[in-house]
Amino acid sequence: MSVRHFLTLLDLSPAELNRLIQRAIELKAMHRSGKRHDIMRGKTLGMIFEKSSTRTRVSFEAGMTHFGGASIFLSPRDTQLGRGEPIEDSARVLSRMVDIVMIRTFAHQTIETFSAYSAVPVINALTDDFHPCQLLADMQTYVEHRGSIQGKKVVWVGDGNNMCNSYINAARQFDFELVVSCPEGFEPNAELLSRESSRVSIERDPLAAAHNAHLVVTDVWASMGQEDEQKQREKAFANYQVNNQLMALADKQALFMHCLPAHRGEEVSAELMDAKDSVVWDEAENRLHAQKALLEFLMFGEQH
Ligand code: CP
Ligand code: NVA
Repeated sequence: MSVRHFLTLLDLSPAELNRLIQRAIELKAMHRSGKRHDIMRGKTLGMIFEKSSTRTRVSFEAGMTHFGGASIFLSPRDTQLGRGEPIEDSARVLSRMVDIVMIRTFAHQTIETFSAYSAVPVINALTDDFHPCQLLADMQTYVEHRGSIQGKKVVWVGDGNNMCNSYINAARQFDFELVVSCPEGFEPNAELLSRESSRVSIERDPLAAAHNAHLVVTDVWASMGQEDEQKQREKAFANYQVNNQLMALADKQALFMHCLPAHRGEEVSAELMDAKDSVVWDEAENRLHAQKALLEFLMFGEQH
């Protein structure tokens, strides 16, 4: 069987994704009940981080520990990658030593090149364009709290960034309606938008967008690599804060999510982070369970 990668949500079929979410829920219950599942014994995950991380690093490392495997943290500061060794060479070498690789980097092309030369599965742990692992956790969290997301209305408020692009892919794969509320000039990927135009639309007014929403999601105004634009972005996004007033316009059962880290007082109010409709802590925890399901799927398929 050829190697499967997870560079975007489109690398798995909708049925595979739905089963993976169910498996994540199962693995969570197994972990909580203390049941061991040493499926990665003797296996190694290589973790390349060219950007900072708390959740992604800890969830992958802890997940490998639960599975009885090992993980190696690789930063450009102390590997030859940071000194310009070609991606193609690094992929061929690393994939002869480790069993699976995750990469957090800038250009999406980097991870596409790496995967083309890798003999083992490659996981996108965030690029400038996509953050599919976060979507697995978000979908698991919605399912746990409210059941299937199929046919629901999801509202993205803020920057049309890597998370927003992944929500567009999720709208297709999990079959929901997505309304993106962003200021002019901060739209998500135009190609994705036009491809998914039957289920994704833009509504400039965040309060109008929130009407009847089942899930409201936001993210920081300036992503990693955009630190220099912080001040300019604060102005552009001033009307795009998700707070209790906005949530009051959504469906009574609406949930609030944020991939974190959050900037309270910017894209989200401090009160909303801890309000009862906020599920951000479950969402963060589910990175662990969803990625364990992903590791298992990419290494062993659905038979385990
Ligand atoms: N949400 C997320 O990916 O968090 P980290 O940047 O801390 O990994
Ligand atoms: N959009 C954010 C997500 C961080 C998890 C970033 O890329 O920095």
